[in-house]
Amino acid sequence: MLTAKELRQKYLDFFISKGHKVIPSASLIPENDPTVLFTTAGMHPLVPYLLGEKHPGGKRVANVQKCIRTSDIDEVGDNRHLTFFEMMGNWSFGDYFKKEAIEWSWEFLTDKKWLNLDPNRIYITVFKGEDGIPRDEESIKIWQEVLKKSGLENGLAGDNQKIDKKTRIIPLGKEDNFWIAGATGPCGGDTEMFYDTRPQEGKLTGKFSDLVDNSRLIEIWNDVFMEFNKTAEGLYEPLKQKNVDTGMGVERTITVLNGFDNVFQTELFTPILNKIEELSGKSYKDNERAFRIIADHIKAATMIMGDNKNLIPSNVDRGYVLRRLIRRAVRYGKQLGINTTFTFKVAEVVIDIYEDVYPEVKKNKEFIINQLILEEDKFAKTLIDGIKKAKKILDTKTSISSKKFNKIMQTQNKGEILGQTLKDIRENKDTKAYLKFGVPLTQEEIKKATITGKEAFDLYQSFGFPRDMMIELAQEKNLFVDTVEFREELKKHQELSRKGASKKFKGGLAEVTEQTAKLHTATHLLLAALRQILGSEVQQKGSNITAERLRFDFNYDQKLTPEQIKEVEDLVNAKIKENLPVSWQEMSVDDAKKQGAIGVFEHKYGEKVKVYIIGDFSKEICGGPHAKNTNELGNFKIQKEESSSAGIRRIKAILS
Ligand code: ALA
Repeated sequence: MLTAKELRQKYLDFFISKGHKVIPSASLIPENDPTVLFTTAGMHPLVPYLLGEKHPGGKRVANVQKCIRTSDIDEVGDNRHLTFFEMMGNWSFGDYFKKEAIEWSWEFLTDKKWLNLDPNRIYITVFKGEDGIPRDEESIKIWQEVLKKSGLENGLAGDNQKIDKKTRIIPLGKEDNFWIAGATGPCGGDTEMFYDTRPQEGKLTGKFSDLVDNSRLIEIWNDVFMEFNKTAEGLYEPLKQKNVDTGMGVERTITVLNGFDNVFQTELFTPILNKIEELSGKSYKDNERAFRIIADHIKAATMIMGDNKNLIPSNVDRGYVLRRLIRRAVRYGKQLGINTTFTFKVAEVVIDIYEDVYPEVKKNKEFIINQLILEEDKFAKTLIDGIKKAKKILDTKTSISSKKFNKIMQTQNKGEILGQTLKDIRENKDTKAYLKFGVPLTQEEIKKATITGKEAFDLYQSFGFPRDMMIELAQEKNLFVDTVEFREELKKHQELSRKGASKKFKGGLAEVTEQTAKLHTATHLLLAALRQILGSEVQQKGSNITAERLRFDFNYDQKLTPEQIKEVEDLVNAKIKENLPVSWQEMSVDDAKKQGAIGVFEHKYGEKVKVYIIGDFSKEICGGPHAKNTNELGNFKIQKEESSSAGIRRIKAILS
């Protein structure tokens, strides 16, 4: 049995032995990066360093990163998809490249001292070239030598992906073997390692994609060779430096290495599932999907709130994702018959599992528990309000007789068929569609008995009132819900918000990085100016930067006067005009303190910290990145000064 704890430790020890510095997991909530809601991969917080910024930990770093991926939210409940997961990774920032990365991956997987996997059970994919980027001959050659040394066959599969007795390397296209975090930014071809989970079925042969689909082969590690920056125009420009970015999922790896069928059998889940059994009095075996959704969602919500950022459920952005996770879990809890406030009890188990690895979840335990209780209460109230509104809508409809309704439900009970028929009736496309119900009813009667998708969606949108609950209430009154139209409305809404988001960031990751770097430098100037004008007791209490603006919180117990605001603005603009160089030095925490640098002294990367210096005006501990000179910044303008909380003021400012 290999536990998650042992796996993490082995991984980090291995890369320490290869000269890597272990860095802590960054926050799940990205700092100063508006392109994504949550940290989705280990490389994500490291983008500036992949683009050439110097990392205070050096050129070789490794870590275990907390990640959230919400795109798979509807797939939770299957064997593999999780909202929260941990990714182990090792990085080279312009240091080693393909040869070392591949050889070390193999050594870690197969050496007796490390994971000691049977080499015979490992299969390899490589990038076969596409879009003007050539096939990765270098990786193929390295792998062929590595495999030969281990006494294994090293043949390549053709375009048909067929694995036979001689094949162990499968070249695949961009869809599979090219990695990029978003639409633009650092990227490159990759090589992935797959593990044969069912060797008892005999020598592995057949089409690679079939073997992945039936879960005989499961991906355990991805080595990405980042050598390009994809621009907003779709060009692949060579990066200043060649990087390595690797990712190995903790949950998935311990699952396959222990011969389990799915991640929910690992010790990262079993205590949570046991707790849900205890709370519901139902068995996991009979209710797998509901149990998995509750476990996954409450784990994710706990880790998000336990991340020192005090994020709370709300109706926008990250807060909305958090709200959805909690409410979806509550709904499934109700389905299991849990009638008390329960998510905090699940969260307590999650905290027990992770407190040693991520002490911040323990530190924020009270906050997490309080927020979960509050959110469950709010949801309960929403449901009461929602039910009232829903009943009003139901009252405008005309029920059909129980006899007819039950007959329709028996024949059309597959929601999709019913929905499709209702759609045909709604659109008057098929004038005989109502006959499909097989009972004497007119088209008009069916329309009068249908809650439109719009009505159901409005209720969902304004009250978070669940679609399924609407269906339940409707069915009690022998009424239908047009679920197809509901889905169309939902899609429209999602597209609109996606469009909004992509319009904002059309420049892509690299451009956003540049823009945020400037605002970051402006933030340092702002703090220095505030301290000069309001007094040196002023300290940073929070900072958030998007591609458009900076937001800065600081302690001060009065509203700033218009004169003070003007003074701060003028001072920042004067410093910008002085063309001050922005430089940095690496130094010990003690030296930084001695030199009067301000900032958070909680040293993140061991003994050394990076201190950013702007002329003789500002000296601040900070990881960067920043503009190179204040003359890049343009004009600084404060748009808003307001209270953020007791004794804390908030400034929003832009560069134009
Ligand atoms: N960034 C790569 C991944 O997430 C390693 O798979």
